[in-house]
Amino acid sequence: MPLSLDAALRSDFIGLDTCYPRADGGCSRRVYLDSAASTLALGCARQLADALLRHYANTHSSVHFSARIASAALDWARAQMLDFVHADPERHTALFIGNGCTAPLNRLARSLAARRPERDVVLVSRMEHHANDLPHRRHAGQVLHIPLRGTAPALGAIDLDALDDLLEQQRGRINYIAVAAASNVTGIVNPVHDIAARAHVHGAWIVVDASQALAHAPLPLSDTGTPERELDVVVFSGHKLYAPGSPGVAILRRSLLQGIAPDELGGGMVDDVSLNDYQVSATLPEREEAGTPNIIGAVQLGAVLKVLRTAGMNRIHAHEQTLLSELLSGLATIPGLRLYGDPDLQRTPRLGTVAFNLTGLEHGLVAAVLNDYHTIALRNGCFCAHPYVRELLKPDLWSLDLDPDAEDAMALLKPWQGMVRASLGLYTSAADIAALLAALRDLRARADEYRAHYRVDSAGQFHHRHFTIPARTLFDPDAVLAQALRRLSDRSGML
Ligand code: ALA
Repeated sequence: MPLSLDAALRSDFIGLDTCYPRADGGCSRRVYLDSAASTLALGCARQLADALLRHYANTHSSVHFSARIASAALDWARAQMLDFVHADPERHTALFIGNGCTAPLNRLARSLAARRPERDVVLVSRMEHHANDLPHRRHAGQVLHIPLRGTAPALGAIDLDALDDLLEQQRGRINYIAVAAASNVTGIVNPVHDIAARAHVHGAWIVVDASQALAHAPLPLSDTGTPERELDVVVFSGHKLYAPGSPGVAILRRSLLQGIAPDELGGGMVDDVSLNDYQVSATLPEREEAGTPNIIGAVQLGAVLKVLRTAGMNRIHAHEQTLLSELLSGLATIPGLRLYGDPDLQRTPRLGTVAFNLTGLEHGLVAAVLNDYHTIALRNGCFCAHPYVRELLKPDLWSLDLDPDAEDAMALLKPWQGMVRASLGLYTSAADIAALLAALRDLRARADEYRAHYRVDSAGQFHHRHFTIPARTLFDPDAVLAQALRRLSDRSGML
């Protein structure tokens, strides 16, 4: 039977065969479980981007063939963004901004504040990555945080009743609600279309940070096709969508930008400029994209989205849910493993991200041992979501007999303030999950032995006493470049 496209795709990622040395000697394949930070690159999408490089030119030029090819390719990429979330090109536009979600979210915060200055309150979920919290605090007025459901230990999902209360209390003042489609810490999914409906009853908009969701599950702008449940703004990031080096993206209704000046000025967004004046272009997206766009990155991301859509996001989601269930049941068998957020996927849906701690072991030690002895790549710390992590950690910190809010407790608390996070991508296999579970069991069984190999620095980072491998010995840009230059000079010698 032929492989389905999503099954075939799982092996088409760059770096699945990367090997690293281990502290106990030998080398092994990297097990990449850090997709929530950045995903690996999809090979066929990279190939398309490389093919375009043969025609590369600036989209601000217009007559020569290469410029026309580049412009058409960028238009094609933009169409893929809109199609992927079922946006209507007449009503919506896709903006390429910066190189992750941070720049689009800062832009949106400024633009939406300028659009409705009379609405000076923004509701931000307590679960947000700093990128979907701090820009609103700085640019958009007063931020009120939507609390989490349940008392300690918090279940990790946001409290929709509390959201309703806030909407009622701040009636007429709320410009928008900023919320993630899924948490970058626990993978917990927010019912963004329900939240959109609640927001719209109060005349508020919803800005959805989809950076942790779009690669993992279908996310149409409206789940019913009706405007009440339509997301007003969706922001995502190509480096979490198998397209490193691509721009951040904001998809939004054109009307949201009506009547406000563009946020940035420069080339490509003006119709005419004299020494004393300039006329801004009336057309979107051009008027919001000053300067040369990241054409190659946008096209690479466009290719990923087209491929994912063809493979079927429902299938991709279902496959990831199977692996996630295996991971969750495996973690539940490890003694003293504390998983954060509700583990019941029926009650609290999640995407493929889990955060945990092993009691009595600092998160930094766990991550270091997994890397050094098992070549397992995952992230530890607070994942740029400090308020959420702090809330989830409170019971653990209290059990340390230190007051987490006391100033002088900070230094002692530091190595304990954080979690270990494993996050899945399309390339994650059952073997990867098994490798993580085996490594955690091994660490649990031989914790003292491992601990003796490490020292901890004042920042709470763990360093192996003998196994020190500088990054430059694994990948040296000078050496790789020198090799390329050698090939070049060999070739020129042959001429
Ligand atoms: N925002 C990225 C993460 O959650 C970097 O790890």
